[in-house]
Amino acid sequence: MTIEPRTILITGGAGYIGATSANALIAAGHRVVILDDLSSGHSDTIPNEASSIVGSYADGDRMQSLLRDARIDTILHVGALSIVSESVTQPERYFKTNLVGSIALLDAAIAVGVKRMIFSSSAAVYGASSSNVLHEELPLTPVNPYGATKAAFEHVLRAYADAHGLAAIALRYFNVAGATDQVAERHQPETHLLPRLMSAARTGEPFELYGNDYATPDHTAVRDYVHVADVASAHLAAIEKIAPDSLHGFVAINIGSGTGTSVREAVSAVERATGARIDLREHPRRAGDPPRLVADVNRALVHLRWRPRQSDINRIVKSLLPR
Ligand SMILES: NC(=O)c1ccc[n+]([C@@H]2O[C@H](COP(=O)([O-])OP(=O)(O)OC[C@H]3O[C@@H](n4cnc5c(N)ncnc54)[C@H](O)[C@@H]3O)[C@@H](O)[C@H]2O)c1
Repeated sequence: MTIEPRTILITGGAGYIGATSANALIAAGHRVVILDDLSSGHSDTIPNEASSIVGSYADGDRMQSLLRDARIDTILHVGALSIVSESVTQPERYFKTNLVGSIALLDAAIAVGVKRMIFSSSAAVYGASSSNVLHEELPLTPVNPYGATKAAFEHVLRAYADAHGLAAIALRYFNVAGATDQVAERHQPETHLLPRLMSAARTGEPFELYGNDYATPDHTAVRDYVHVADVASAHLAAIEKIAPDSLHGFVAINIGSGTGTSVREAVSAVERATGARIDLREHPRRAGDPPRLVADVNRALVHLRWRPRQSDINRIVKSLLPR
């Protein structure tokens, strides 16, 4: 099905998920404008075909001019601060950027009549839920300031959607991983499991594994890894979904693989793909790390007609091998 071309503002478009999505949207025929303050993004990942502006989405006046001048019709709001441990020690930065800044962006959008927003939310909104599979109707009980900023902005989006006729989709990503030909994960510090395992395999340095007494089959924590290319295709599906007249109001949708992978299974996948042996150092579990976080992805299938296609753990790991 052909999608009507859009003019999309991607906040955080110089980051891992934003830049991957920019490439996918451009390839599908959309016009993309990237706004990034380069606080954690990299200007060399911005696709040549995108217009790009350095600045913060929290600057409401500037956002109004940008949205109007660039004739933006849809905002893909990916930009955020997203290091959980940092959010615990510097909550003020997280609430100011992720919540207050995002409200400034939303106010600017309403002021100039941009009524479609897709928001990068997170499985962190569920906190340490004891549910075996997480579905979108569970109560939001984040356990750290990062997750709290995502849950709070979801509440704001829902209220604005009801009051101002906005079409808004919060995509709750699980553990985004993998690389494409154009974009690889380059977080500083890198807190995500798979790039850290790849680094341990490459350097021979020990890998610190936290928690080996969970009530899971191999006693390590189970997470849901979703390929970044699948996340980009979910963005494309969401943009198609909020074509004029197709959706009003707010909906939250999980974006995951729907499959659990334990830390030991991830270690084995990296060892198989690289041929290296990873030197594991096992430690007690960290406070607040739940045993199992796996997405129910049924709503994505029903609402977006999206399903993960590249999120098998071996395929994700293979995409991380040097090209
Ligand atoms: N990576 C994951 O596994 C994961 C999981 C769940 C949710 N998310 C969410 O997805 C989004 C993207 O994550 P990522 O992994 O690509 O991170 P990233 O750090 O690579 O990208 C975030 C981008 O936002 C930019 N940015 C930050 N504050 C900004 C501001 N005020 N104005 C403009 N740009 C700003 C950064 O410079 C960076 O380019 C974030 O909202 C994150 O919370 C990521």
